[in-house]
Amino acid sequence: MRRWGVFARISKPGDKVNTSQPRKIASTTAIYAGSFDPITNGHLDLIQRGSRLFDRLIVSILRNERKEPLFAVEERTEMLREVVGEYPNVEVDSFDGLLVDYAAARSATVLLRGIRAISDYEYELQMALMNRRLRPEIETVFLMANEAYSFISSRLVKEVFSLGGDIAGLAPPLVEARMRGRIAKFAHKGA
Ligand code: PNS
Repeated sequence: MRRWGVFARISKPGDKVNTSQPRKIASTTAIYAGSFDPITNGHLDLIQRGSRLFDRLIVSILRNERKEPLFAVEERTEMLREVVGEYPNVEVDSFDGLLVDYAAARSATVLLRGIRAISDYEYELQMALMNRRLRPEIETVFLMANEAYSFISSRLVKEVFSLGGDIAGLAPPLVEARMRGRIAKFAHKGA
């Protein structure tokens, strides 16, 4: 979150501003980590809101996922880069190992997570507390999912699409286009 220490005092119009003081005391880098297999409109909403809250937001794909993904990390990276292109303070990366170690290596002090429903809470709480135990200096910040997207998950998007359902409005159009070429493999393997 932005810290605007020198602006804590209320100034009136006409007040002299001391330009020798730095305007901003510290900048904050946040990491939004996940599988993003594939990115959904729920993820995108969180990225957009995170980009407004933090000076820099790194969207990072977990590499050493145990379950077999539909899209390779490189493909997910390409899709993410395309959809976040309009946000100048958002970058896309990937990581393996502990998320908090990766965050520290990227000089990030915040882990951004979304909560869709109460069913997300327990898993998120466990992760946040474990991450805090590992590196107390890194805070997890939760945003409530936009109600329009609170029922969307990557798993459901893949399932609905593979069974012939309409996913317009659930994931960016480029995801739908890529899934069209990939879904035979997905349906076959039951990912
Ligand atoms: O969106 P997802 O797929 O639920 O994201 C899960 C993710 C990537 C945030 C989590 O699995 C993770 O942080 N993995 C990295 C390994 C790690 O740090 N494990 C300890 C977390 S408490």
